[in-house]
Amino acid sequence: MYTIEGEIVHGDEIGRTLGFPTANIHMYDETVPDGVWAARAAFRDGRTHSAVVSVGRRPTFFESDAVRLFEAHIIDFAESIYGEWIIVELLDYIRPQVRFDSIRELVSAMHADRERAAAITPPTSECERSTGGDARGPATRAPRWALRRVRTASADIHATNEGDAASGPAGLQAQVRSLSRQLGMSRGLVRRCLRELNDAKVPTS
Ligand SMILES: Cc1cc2nc3c(=O)[nH]c(=O)nc-3n(C[C@H](O)[C@H](O)[C@H](O)COP(=O)(O)O)c2cc1C
Repeated sequence: MYTIEGEIVHGDEIGRTLGFPTANIHMYDETVPDGVWAARAAFRDGRTHSAVVSVGRRPTFFESDAVRLFEAHIIDFAESIYGEWIIVELLDYIRPQVRFDSIRELVSAMHADRERAAAITPPTSECERSTGGDARGPATRAPRWALRRVRTASADIHATNEGDAASGPAGLQAQVRSLSRQLGMSRGLVRRCLRELNDAKVPTS
C-alpha cells in the first residue's frame, strides 16, 4: 500500500482535547488518498504499534482550502514523541473524511475507526514490546517496510563487494552493524529482517 515517513511535528493539538492525540508528519506524497486508514507505525529503534491515520483537510473544522494533514493516532500509547522519526505503513482504507455536524459525532466515528484499526493491525507482541524490537525469543515478523529496506540495502552491498565480502558469523555481524547504521534501524530489527530474507544463521550479538 503506502509507506510515509518523517519527523513528528506539532499539530493544532485539538486532537488532545478530543482524547485522540495524533502524531503529525509533513506529507509530500499527493498520491495517498484522503481518508481514514488502519496502519502500523514504527520508530527507528524497531518498536512498532498499531495506529489509525487520518489524511485530509479536517472538513469538520476547516474549509476545503485548508492544509492537508497526515495524522497518526498511535493506539495504546502515551509517550511524548515530538521530533522523533516515524515510519507509517498504511494497511487498509477504512472510510473517507467526513464533515460532521458536531464534535460528538466526529469523536464517536474516531472511536469506531480505532476499534477497526486495532482489529486489522493487532498490537505488537509483548515480546517485541519488552525488548524494544530486539526480539530474540519467539520470532516476531519484521514489518514489511523494514524487510524492503534491508533487502534493497543488502543487494547494494553485495553488488559493490562482490568477491571480497567477509563470510561466516563475523561477516554477518559486520553486515548487521553496517545496515543498522546505514538504515537507522536497531540491530535487532536488521537481524530479524536478514533471518527472514535469507533464512540465514545470523548471530545474536
Ligand atoms: C481516526 C481519525 C479519524 C478522523 N476523521 C476525521 C473526519 O472524518 N473528519 C474530520 O474533519 N476530521 C477527522 N479527523 C481529524 C481530526 O479532526 C483531527 O485529528 C483533530 O482536529 C485534531 O487535529 P490536530 O492533530 O491538529 O490537533 C480524524 C482524525 C483521526 C485520528
